Amino acid sequence: MQIAIDGPAGAGKSSVAREVARRLAFKCLDTGAMYRAVTLQALKKGIDLSNGKLLVELIRSCKLEVEYNDQEGTLIYLDGENVTEEIRSPLVNQNVSVVAKSSELRRELVLLQRELAEKSNGIVMEGRDIGTNVLVNADYKFFLTASPAERTRRRWLEMSAKGLDVSYEELYKEIALRDRIDQEREEAPLKIAPEALVIDTTPYTLEEVVEKVLSVIRKGKQKECGEEKVK
Ligand code: CDP
Repeated sequence: MQIAIDGPAGAGKSSVAREVARRLAFKCLDTGAMYRAVTLQALKKGIDLSNGKLLVELIRSCKLEVEYNDQEGTLIYLDGENVTEEIRSPLVNQNVSVVAKSSELRRELVLLQRELAEKSNGIVMEGRDIGTNVLVNADYKFFLTASPAERTRRRWLEMSAKGLDVSYEELYKEIALRDRIDQEREEAPLKIAPEALVIDTTPYTLEEVVEKVLSVIRKGKQKECGEEKVK
């Protein structure tokens, strides 16, 4: 079974995807972590972040490993080094959407993502283009969103808990810019798949959103829900 969860930054995709996967004993893949890993590597090597050809060469020349476990979620290794924390740095946040615009790079990563889905018995995959591009035939598609202020607040709390000193205003602007680049790019932009169930998570707790997602899956009736907003 394949479950696709898409949406903008801070909408709760990662936490919801991990918890839904844990309860269903499925694998979970955070595809954003893959774009982040390429961004980190490109920054380290000082290559032009908008040169798709170079980005593909870069990713082919290093060893990118993606692992998953229930406790830690998606783990990323670059040439054997665990970079799972490093890919969440403010510098990667600021540059990842530019890297993710490259069609050449996207095609390369999408192949890997589909391969991982095929190898699993059940997967929850989250990102920006899962329901619209990577897994178009997914059994269930969800689009999580929340108000920009709430999304910024959540991300600010997350970063502050890690000891990162970020200003709310700066973060708000960075998320808005990332949203815009993700929505306006040519290749597989961030948008709602026609059959996806949209959940505005602004007023809900993580547990409430997980329950809403699981209740749709338990009923096995995605199509009947259409684009109705879950109340
Ligand atoms: O965690 P957060 O929502 O901030 O972002 P993420 O899921 O780690 O994704 C980081 C960036 O990668 C996004 O802003 C997109 O530019 C890109 N991305 C993408 O283009 N397609 C995906 N399937 C996943 C992420």
